[in-house]
Amino acid sequence: GEHLSIVNGQGATPDAISMVGRNVVSLDDLSVNEIRALLRKAAYIDTHRTQVAHTCDGRVLATLFYEPSTRTRLSFETAMLRLGGKTIGFAGAQLASVTKGESIADTVKTVSCYADIIAIRHPKEGAALIASEAAAPYDVPVINAGDGGHMHPTQTLADLLTIQSRFGRLDDVTIGLCGDLTFGRTVHSLIETLCRFGHVRFVLISPEELVTPRYVLDRIDASPTCSYVEVRDLTEVIGDLDVLYMTRVQKERFFNEDDYLRLRDTYILDAAKLALAKPSMAVLHPLPRVNEIAVDVDADPRAAYFEQVRNGMLMRMALESSVLGDTLPGYEPAVGK
Ligand code: CP
Repeated sequence: GEHLSIVNGQGATPDAISMVGRNVVSLDDLSVNEIRALLRKAAYIDTHRTQVAHTCDGRVLATLFYEPSTRTRLSFETAMLRLGGKTIGFAGAQLASVTKGESIADTVKTVSCYADIIAIRHPKEGAALIASEAAAPYDVPVINAGDGGHMHPTQTLADLLTIQSRFGRLDDVTIGLCGDLTFGRTVHSLIETLCRFGHVRFVLISPEELVTPRYVLDRIDASPTCSYVEVRDLTEVIGDLDVLYMTRVQKERFFNEDDYLRLRDTYILDAAKLALAKPSMAVLHPLPRVNEIAVDVDADPRAAYFEQVRNGMLMRMALESSVLGDTLPGYEPAVGK
């Protein structure tokens, strides 16, 4: 399998030959080598901000956000601006012609006449795939910025860079995912992707009502090197974890307000619980947080969630330049080994 050749996170890795024009609906659209190339490019971008500032001169990014967002939309846009490109788009479907009944496909075909790359967020699972099919005749790549409870691939890129920079590797880690594992799309993307990188032990911490979907568990089962346990109690397992990935209970995906109110505060990470964790553990959260992490955790060196925000912008810079085929000045692709 693909992951067997890349199990070691150390040293030079073969860079992608080309990601030009590629849609990213799920991270399965990219090979492990291509994901590694993006991690390497993001690290380069971080230390060469001035040199890369004109990489995407003349390019236009469109952000079509049918659902609320702070980080994803602003980081997609900032990434393009910091590479020299420009942005158009809407933040909130109420401002777009969807309110007049326009389909996703028609909106995307229209925007494909204006933009060189599209990022789309939509409450329905599968919307990004439909958008990518509509944009295909125009050769405009579409990046999924979150589709319902399904996938959030660019969040996963931010998560991977954060884990890689904290531990120097993406395999041989024990990662606890805690909270809403049913509707948390970032959890689904992250598990599916880490399964491709080697030995990962998943500790799935959720109430019975919010367990990980079967199709995600099947991905772990299909990996010869990964395993999982499902547990209800965070304090019981926190001492075993290298990474604790906290999530928000996804209010907007609940059918029943009472269920949401009953489940939202099941897990709250605070300084007392963190005292039970390893000194090297990293706390990740895709944000926004509601109550899941007490603010007294923010000052702890294990808190990595604002680092994760910054990494999200760097990874989107790497991804945007790569799918547009714009070369980062001075960047030398790693030689395949
Ligand atoms: N992590 C994330 O997707 O945040 P936003 O919903 O604010 O974009």
